[in-house]
Amino acid sequence: MSTLLQINSGIFGEHSNSTALANEFTSQYLAQHPDAQVVLRDLISEPIAHLDANTIGAFASDEASRTPEQQAILDFSQQLIDELSSADAVVLGLPMYNFNVPSQLKAYMDQVARAGITFKYTETGPQGLLADKPVYVIAARGGFHQGQETDTQTGFVKTFFAFLGINNVQFIYAEGVNMGDEAKASAYSAAKDAISKTFA
Ligand SMILES: Cc1cc2nc3c(=O)[nH]c(=O)nc-3n(C[C@H](O)[C@H](O)[C@H](O)COP(=O)(O)O)c2cc1C
Repeated sequence: MSTLLQINSGIFGEHSNSTALANEFTSQYLAQHPDAQVVLRDLISEPIAHLDANTIGAFASDEASRTPEQQAILDFSQQLIDELSSADAVVLGLPMYNFNVPSQLKAYMDQVARAGITFKYTETGPQGLLADKPVYVIAARGGFHQGQETDTQTGFVKTFFAFLGINNVQFIYAEGVNMGDEAKASAYSAAKDAISKTFA
C-alpha cells in the first residue's frame, strides 16, 4: 500500500485553486493506486506557529534537561517529519501570495528542516537525510511568472526539498488564474493536462 501526503497551503479552502488542483491530483493518484492511503496536512485549518527562540531551544535541547514544553515542540516537529518521510509521494498545493510561498508553508518548512534528523552538515557541505521521493507541486498564480525573476517559488521550493535529500520535485503550474475567465480556464486545462500526464 502506498501513501500520498497532500499538503494544502491555500487560504480559501476548497476554493483555493492550488487546493482544487491538488485534490484533482489526489483523485487521479487514487484511481491509479486504489488501495493508497492519503494523509492530509492542511496548513491553514491547523496552522503551525512561526519559528521562535523557544522552538530552536527545543530542537537543540538535551534529553536529560528537556522540559515538557520542549518535548511537546519536538514531538510535533517529529510528527511532521514522520509524515513526510513515510510518504511514497507528496502533492503540495502552492499558491503565490505576494510573490512568495504562504507564510504557513514557510512555518511548516521551519519544522521539518532539522539538523541531524532531516539534514546534516558534512565537510563537503549539507547532506539531506530523507529518502528521495516524487513531490508534485501544484503552483497557482494570479499572473504569469514561470521563467522570470518574479518566480521566487520554483527555485526556493526545489532548493528546500533538495536540502532534505528530495530531488525529484516536479512543478505543475496554473498561471494567470486572476486574468479573466478565459485565462483561468486555460490555466486549469493546462494544469489538468499536466496532472494527467504524470499518471500516463
Ligand atoms: C493576498 C494575495 C496575494 C497575491 N499575490 C500574488 C502575487 O504576488 N502574484 C500573483 O501572480 N498572484 C498573486 N495573487 C493571486 C494568487 O496567486 C491566485 O489567486 C492563486 O490562485 C492563489 O492560490 P490559491 O487560489 O490556491 O489560494 C495573490 C492573491 C492573494 C489573495
